[in-house]
Amino acid sequence: MQKSNVAWEEVARDFARMVEIDAHRKFILLPAIYRMLEHSYQDPEGIRGKLIFDAGCGDGGVARYISEKGGQVLAVDFSDNMIDEAKRKTNANSQIKYEKIDLTKPLPYSSGLFDLIICSMVLMDIPYIKRPLRELARILKVGGEIIIAISHPSYTVPFVKISRNLQDKILGKEAKIKFIEYPIFKRVEKKIAGLRATTPYFQRRVSFYLNAISQAGFKICEAKEPLLSKRYKKLLPHLIHATKIPMFLILRAQKLDS
Ligand SMILES: C[S@@+](CC[C@H](N)C(=O)[O-])C[C@H]1O[C@@H](n2cnc3c(N)ncnc32)[C@H](O)[C@@H]1O
Repeated sequence: MQKSNVAWEEVARDFARMVEIDAHRKFILLPAIYRMLEHSYQDPEGIRGKLIFDAGCGDGGVARYISEKGGQVLAVDFSDNMIDEAKRKTNANSQIKYEKIDLTKPLPYSSGLFDLIICSMVLMDIPYIKRPLRELARILKVGGEIIIAISHPSYTVPFVKISRNLQDKILGKEAKIKFIEYPIFKRVEKKIAGLRATTPYFQRRVSFYLNAISQAGFKICEAKEPLLSKRYKKLLPHLIHATKIPMFLILRAQKLDS
């Protein structure tokens, strides 16, 4: 089994291309994250001038969105290639700083430094999430919020095996979905559509995530299981399952005063 960052080094270039065209991201994940960001910052100034930590930034798409809204972003990832891809896509004048950081190690930032943290589509790739979550809580200021997005633990592949045609199964009256039981914390190699290599994926139950987030010192304020809007049904027939089954779980949580 290869190390996680080796896997991400291998897929970095494909990933950076794939995210540009991936309809799940474009039409479901990102709009939901951006709406949550608006909830996090309801004041008229929004995130202008705020210091935001993007934990596991990938190609930096979310970081660039925040930067365009006036936020100052420190975007980190443990893959050199991924950071190179992110820098390549980022305007040199932007307010984004990229650093190579492994989220499973102690973070080299002072406590309470950041106003907001984004951790999008990363936690399910990390073997042990309790310590990383405690570190994220430590570097966030009290009252600051973290937005966490993950592949929906209950509904996303490879754990759901659908034995007949996907659309018939989900939309038909006899829809039956078989859940394959994996031992909790088992690492599987997940093939993300559009990537040639696999990346690690750790199956956990929803309750594990909720408890780990609470135990790290956060209060969960909002949860979203966004669906694909039905108006895209015709445009994106291959995603019709996502109009009924949530592919993502997105949580907004606030750091409590300890
Ligand atoms: C699915 S991508 C998501 C990227 C980005 N957040 C987004 O939403 O587009 C997962 C990213 O997490 C990074 N990652 C995984 N484990 C990590 C760790 N332990 N420390 C830092 N980054 C990590 C990977 O290199 C990859 O760039």
